[in-house]
Amino acid sequence: YYDYYDYYYYYYHHKVVIILAPYSLTVYSVLKHLDPCLIHLSSTEPISNVTLRANQTELMEFNSSAVATCSISSGSSLSFLWMNGSSEVTASNRVQFTDRNSTLTIVNVTRYDQGPFRCCVSNPVSNGTSNPLNFTINGPDNMALTVNKQNITSFLIGSNLTMLCSVQSNPPAQLRWAFRGERVNTTGPLLELFNVSESQSGAYSCLAFNNHTNMNSNITAYIMIASEFVGIGT
Ligand SMILES: *[C@@H]1O[C@H](CO)[C@@H](O)[C@H](O)[C@H]1NC(C)=O
Ligand SMILES: *[C@@H]1O[C@H](CO)[C@@H](O)[C@H](O)[C@H]1NC(C)=O
Ligand SMILES: *[C@@H]1O[C@H](CO)[C@@H](O)[C@H](O)[C@H]1NC(C)=O
Ligand SMILES: *[C@@H]1O[C@H](CO)[C@@H](O)[C@H](O)[C@H]1NC(C)=O
Ligand SMILES: *[C@@H]1O[C@H](CO)[C@@H](O)[C@H](O)[C@H]1NC(C)=O
Ligand SMILES: *[C@@H]1O[C@H](CO)[C@@H](O)[C@H](O)[C@H]1NC(C)=O
Ligand SMILES: *[C@@H]1O[C@H](CO)[C@@H](O)[C@H](O)[C@H]1NC(C)=O
Ligand SMILES: *[C@@H]1O[C@H](CO)[C@@H](O)[C@H](O)[C@H]1NC(C)=O
Ligand SMILES: *[C@@H]1O[C@H](CO)[C@@H](O)[C@H](O)[C@H]1NC(C)=O
Ligand SMILES: *[C@@H]1O[C@H](CO)[C@@H](O)[C@H](O)[C@H]1NC(C)=O
Ligand SMILES: *[C@@H]1O[C@H](CO)[C@@H](O)[C@H](O)[C@H]1NC(C)=O
Ligand SMILES: *[C@@H]1O[C@H](CO)[C@@H](O)[C@H](O)[C@H]1NC(C)=O
Repeated sequence: YYDYYDYYYYYYHHKVVIILAPYSLTVYSVLKHLDPCLIHLSSTEPISNVTLRANQTELMEFNSSAVATCSISSGSSLSFLWMNGSSEVTASNRVQFTDRNSTLTIVNVTRYDQGPFRCCVSNPVSNGTSNPLNFTINGPDNMALTVNKQNITSFLIGSNLTMLCSVQSNPPAQLRWAFRGERVNTTGPLLELFNVSESQSGAYSCLAFNNHTNMNSNITAYIMIASEFVGIGT
């Protein structure tokens, strides 16, 4: 009887706590010992420590699968809900849920599959949300090429040209250059040409490579060098 009373004391004591921390383990164990009406409920363990993990987070666009596994330290009768940012992830031909929805697989990932992903786990007595998980899928993207900080492509003989290549990439892309399809020695975002002649007219390409995603991208500018501006090229 002493024990019973003691539990009751805890029960009432923790009833206050119930309002403040409805999912504490203490409350759960007290309910389990005290209230026979809650036996079916108390057979549902509260959820703790929701953890989201992935084997690999550096992925190749269109060529990798993202696999994330949601695990918990304790809890039963679970249901899983997946979020990508603030949107719920729904199953499709690219998106699958397995292991009772505790594993998320996205095949042929795109740059829109970078997350942050979270899994939200709930059962009748509690719920929990995992840490966020990001995938890195940035290939080289959104390339741009300017010459002398301008958009123009026609220049006078004897000009100096500074070509600047910009690209979005994570990790940073390695940049190389080509002239008329032939690689030139220059690497990095700048290609400088001094005192140009007509023979240097042609296609200049900046080639970007992301060594983590294995993705390539390129952009080409057609440069004309003439003794005087012709047509509308100014
Ligand atoms: C939470 O779960 C992770 C993965 O299962 C484990 O490594 C970690 O020790 C757990 N933390 C606690 C506080 O239980
Ligand atoms: C994750 O890694 C473990 C151990 O390296 C491996 O057994 C498992 O198959 C991997 N899972 C996926 C989905 O790649
Ligand atoms: C796609 O992945 C496969 C296997 O990992 C690899 O052999 C292939 O080169 C990749 N394709 C591209 C375009 O990177
Ligand atoms: C994933 O990409 C491969 C190779 O491009 C293709 O054969 C396959 O149908 C794609 N799967 C889906 C679900 O889009
Ligand atoms: C997995 O989630 C879907 C809804 O996304 C639901 O219809 C299905 O019952 C769930 N499966 C399990 C085993 O919980
Ligand atoms: C999780 O618990 C909070 C706090 O009671 C509640 O507001 C929320 O709706 C619950 N979420 C789910 C998915 O059950
Ligand atoms: C995950 O991505 C979000 C949004 O892109 C970013 O705010 C956050 O810092 C990233 N988290 C990590 C651990 O990289
Ligand atoms: C360069 O030209 C393109 C289209 O011709 C235009 O969209 C872009 O805004 C221009 N950029 C600058 C810096 O003028
Ligand atoms: C081109 O650059 C060279 C060396 O920096 C400089 O001497 C020359 O004046 C420049 N020519 C023009 C047209 O700006
Ligand atoms: C190109 O690079 C190679 C090796 O780095 C070097 O030997 C050669 O002189 C360079 N050529 C030019 C034109 O800069
Ligand atoms: C990949 O590229 C990064 C940045 O360009 C560089 O620091 C790193 O050494 C490269 N890694 C390999 C394996 O080439
Ligand atoms: C440039 O990109 C196009 C596709 O956008 C590709 O067909 C071409 O082979 C690339 N060129 C180089 C030199 O990588």
